[in-house]
Amino acid sequence: MRVVFCCTDTKAQPWLDGLRAALPGAEIALWSPGEHPADYAVVWAPPQAFFDEQTGLKGIFNIGAGVDALLKLRLPAGVPLVRLDDAGMSVQMAEFVCHAVIRHFRAFDAYQADAAKGLWSYRKPRLRQDYPVGVMGLGVLGQRVAKALTQFDFSVSGWSRSAKLLDGVRCFHGQDGLDDFLAASRILVCLLPLTPETEGLLRRENLSRLLPGAYLINVARGGHLVDDDLLALLESGHLEGASLDVFRQEPLPAGHAFWQHPKITITPHTSARTMREESVAQIAAKILAMQHGATSDRLAGVVDPKKGY
Ligand code: NAP
Ligand code: GLV
Repeated sequence: MRVVFCCTDTKAQPWLDGLRAALPGAEIALWSPGEHPADYAVVWAPPQAFFDEQTGLKGIFNIGAGVDALLKLRLPAGVPLVRLDDAGMSVQMAEFVCHAVIRHFRAFDAYQADAAKGLWSYRKPRLRQDYPVGVMGLGVLGQRVAKALTQFDFSVSGWSRSAKLLDGVRCFHGQDGLDDFLAASRILVCLLPLTPETEGLLRRENLSRLLPGAYLINVARGGHLVDDDLLALLESGHLEGASLDVFRQEPLPAGHAFWQHPKITITPHTSARTMREESVAQIAAKILAMQHGATSDRLAGVVDPKKGY
């Protein structure tokens, strides 16, 4: 069995070492053009040339949760594409989102600004019931985030494509449920995959439906947000602020209006990082299962190309 690793922006050696340890007996190679075909590919943002010459693949493993960039390439037909299924990401996402929600709700940025000026000042406590949180996307990450928020007694709603029943979370689904979901939310968390259906969903028309004084947390993909619509709604005051981890262009270009905006907090696509050890273990276990005859419907995290996630 041959496994080829092709990940741009990733230090290859620790992954190769990890895969060799987890799959003893397998040939683990770093891809370079002209190599002979492999059985399995472990990838992140590979070039089209990689798939054009890998004609014998039985499985493609993405070392991230989102597959939007991969699905823009011409992938070999009929080969299962498998994304990371949590692998240590959901706890990080829950930490990040709870931190952002609480920082906003408790006005910690304002306290920090006061402290920097040497001011011992109090603000009127905000009422939790005035800050209902809506989580868009109730998959692996969204469900963990929604559950974590309920632990702080926030009123939490969620929105997904299919109907769900989750303890302590008011669930909405489908296009028909979107307006009611938005109207019930003051803090909005985006954890949707980027697909043709969800691209640009965070646009003026939808963000305007949030409760006044809303706050946006986008930890999914930059393509969900219409940047100018966010700026206009911050200007009008309908939105009080935003915490953005992902952007249409990454790194966010110097000079982009978001950098200097006083109501926008920026992080560099870091809300949930790929954890190498967990990811290698998960991918190796799936490769072994496939080698022993497991069909892709038996594996978690197989992407449905029709849905785009
Ligand atoms: P997932 O398990 O596939 O969950 C996706 C959720 O979105 C599901 O609940 C799905 O509904 C819902 N959904 C998809 N299309 C929809 C639509 N058109 N309308 C309503 N709901 C829709 O994905 P995940 O593992 O939670 O990851 C979500 C995304 O987070 C990834 O795709 C990636 O882009 C992003 N991400 C970001 C970071 C970061 O560091 N910023 C890290 C990891 C992941 P159903 O349940 O009904 O299918
Ligand atoms: C990161 O953004 C991922 O999709 O894993």
